[in-house]
Amino acid sequence: MVSDLDRVFSKNAQGMKKSVIRELLKLTRRPEVISFAGGLPDLSAFPVEEVADVTLDVLRRDGATALQYSPTEGDPRLKEELIAHHEREDGITLSPENVLITVASQQGLDLVAKIFIDRGDPVVVGLPTYVGGLGAFRAYGARMYGVPLDEQGMKMDSLERKLDKLKKEGKKPKFIYVVPDFQNPAGITMSEERRKKLIELARCHDVFVLEDSPYKELRYEGEAVKSIFSLDGDGQVIGLHTFSKILFPGMRLGWVIGPEAVIQKLTIAKQSTDLCTPAFTQAIVAEFAARGLLQKNIDSVKEIYREKRQVMLDALDEHMPKLKGLRWTKPQGGLFLWVTLPRYMDSEELFFEAVEHNVAFVIGTAFYCDDGGRSTMRLNFSFPTKEDIVEGVKRLAKVIEEHDKEKKTSGDVVVTP
Ligand SMILES: Cc1ncc(COP(=O)(O)O)c(C=O)c1O
Repeated sequence: MVSDLDRVFSKNAQGMKKSVIRELLKLTRRPEVISFAGGLPDLSAFPVEEVADVTLDVLRRDGATALQYSPTEGDPRLKEELIAHHEREDGITLSPENVLITVASQQGLDLVAKIFIDRGDPVVVGLPTYVGGLGAFRAYGARMYGVPLDEQGMKMDSLERKLDKLKKEGKKPKFIYVVPDFQNPAGITMSEERRKKLIELARCHDVFVLEDSPYKELRYEGEAVKSIFSLDGDGQVIGLHTFSKILFPGMRLGWVIGPEAVIQKLTIAKQSTDLCTPAFTQAIVAEFAARGLLQKNIDSVKEIYREKRQVMLDALDEHMPKLKGLRWTKPQGGLFLWVTLPRYMDSEELFFEAVEHNVAFVIGTAFYCDDGGRSTMRLNFSFPTKEDIVEGVKRLAKVIEEHDKEKKTSGDVVVTP
């Protein structure tokens, strides 16, 4: 074994840190802990029997090609299905050259970072934003600049100020990263007006928008908002998509859409990563979609999550203590909601107390590229059962109430009438 690993590890590897959340989540693995921490789909939502049938048919019909290497760009049949999906969902017209099939959207994030980011390059992200996006950009040495969100999504006045400031300093971001639909972590959806403003600012500053949208199809109420990609239509936007939440994550399948020149570069980058996405999983999902089963699955998954989201919202309304500053988002879709605690509470402190009381969440700081988010937490409602959601919220409410009393009696908090 080489004696001095720090000498041999690359600068990028030296910059990679163990994920704090993963370390914290290890504490939540006891079976008695009700976890709102993960972002996993409901197991009962997986169409196991249908996948079994489709898999057998694919093997019998196209077995040899399905078990062979395949083009890096992706299975042409799956691409056709995806092009039709975007046309139906969003009125977007794509050609196969605008699509790259990936090993789910985390690989999309990695490849985008790989082709755009040199060490120290600026990237603009939301405060908060998806932790896996932060991890991917950090791994290539990006310098992250955060822009706050409100209930309409990323604040465009703050973004404009940030871009102007960076310009004055001679810095040009490589892209602006957004999760505009039922955002992970906050459950917030960016309004159409903000999406249009985002495109305008991106054009004016000549930067890409990276639109990461795993949850768009999972809307439980309200009107759909057009994707940033479709509102642009001019090559300013790169879109990341995945089957993980609309079908299942186990096959690790996703896709990137974007201008042909970007897709070509991503394809070259992917060749040195894994040569190609597995032909077998692509053939199964292409056949699954061609039989109309994808849309059927999305419809049934939405029913399950719509109910669970309501159970969580009702439980929060009923059990949370009435504290000044304690509030939560009411997402119209997706898998998460976001709790803001009174300012004097630190969700990391609360986390350990919660785990002692057998309930878990993700601390808000994990989703911030700066030191923000101390008094926030993410709750997932897709994975736990409805009974566990109610029981978990009761436990969490009790922990918050007791933590509040402790803070007030310890004198940490000055209570004004
Ligand atoms: C916003 C966002 N992007 C990307 C991913 C990665 O998902 P996958 O790699 O399973 O497609 C997730 C997973 O939760 C996510 O929430």
